[in-house]
Amino acid sequence: DKGGYKHFMAKEIAEQPGVIQNALNHYLTEDGEIVLPDGGIDFTKIDRLTMVACGTAYLACFTAKYWFERIARLPVEVDVASEFRYREPPISNRTLAIFVSQSGETADTLAALRYCSGKVDTIASIVNVSESSIARESDLALPIYAGVEVGVASTKAFTCQLTVLFLMVLKAARDRGAITSAELADHISALRGLPSVINMALEQNDTVRAAARKLSQARDVLFLGRGQMYPLAHEGALKLKEISYIHAEAYASGELKHGPIALVDDTVPVVVMAPRDSLFEKTVSNMQEVMARKGKVILISDAKGLAEASEGVWASIQMPSVADALAPILYAIPAQLLAYHTAVAKGTDVDQPRNLAKSVTVE
Ligand code: M6R
Repeated sequence: DKGGYKHFMAKEIAEQPGVIQNALNHYLTEDGEIVLPDGGIDFTKIDRLTMVACGTAYLACFTAKYWFERIARLPVEVDVASEFRYREPPISNRTLAIFVSQSGETADTLAALRYCSGKVDTIASIVNVSESSIARESDLALPIYAGVEVGVASTKAFTCQLTVLFLMVLKAARDRGAITSAELADHISALRGLPSVINMALEQNDTVRAAARKLSQARDVLFLGRGQMYPLAHEGALKLKEISYIHAEAYASGELKHGPIALVDDTVPVVVMAPRDSLFEKTVSNMQEVMARKGKVILISDAKGLAEASEGVWASIQMPSVADALAPILYAIPAQLLAYHTAVAKGTDVDQPRNLAKSVTVE
């Protein structure tokens, strides 16, 4: 049941404030304590993390790497499951291995999990389907409580994965003494505000649709981000390719002048994801290099960022301001909406894109 929406994807995008609230309710007590299932994880016993997944779930891991390293001071190795499983990397027994999968049945992710079994301290999984193979074979399974996701393009599962990962980061940081209780309280209160800022982001639907109409004419699109917004640039590009069939690539904005800027001309839209954080000026200077080559910039930022840098851009999309660390969750919304409206403008099959399956149970 599409609940009045034209596509499951649109419905699932709109559900995000509610399902993120669900996830928060399951992991956060009223007094702000983070409770993980099954006795939790002893973060003082581990000294590194290995995170493995495929597709969008991999990009959730990639985003969480920035958080775990910065906030919990834990080094993280992150890889796509199909590479990890055959690389057979050496792993220490002080490792926490985390496998992220919406379906819990992705063949490569399951194989990677089995490779780690017996070698690491703990195998944890973050899944949407609690009765799945990946959940069953983990020491600890953390459900994301996103509800059934029908659209092949993962949307609400991604933001719920990020929410649960962020809670894990805070738990790890606290257990390892990497943050003070005041810092923890700030993070928790920002998290509690997330459903309402996501609602505000959803209100930008019409602006995003207008930008998507322009984007639908493009043959190639670049996505740029820096720091924790870099994985999200990949997510924006993946979503766009998947459902609109437009060729899209993501680059760390600092990599631009090491090759990809050669592609830029007045036919190439460049989507820049840049909240007004400490890296903003760096990203903006990369964006200006794009504009100097007549690249058409779609800038996604907050009011402050747009006031400073939107002159001369092709389109801009305004996000509410949010605690720095949570920007990747919030900016997932315009990334999803941009792909969605572009696909609708092109008339492609949004919920069942060609050649793709919702659950990839063969390698
Ligand atoms: O069920 P999983 O989370 O393990 O699936 C992983 C990928 O196949 C999945 O995220 C895929 O990339 C999506 N179609 C992306 O929108």
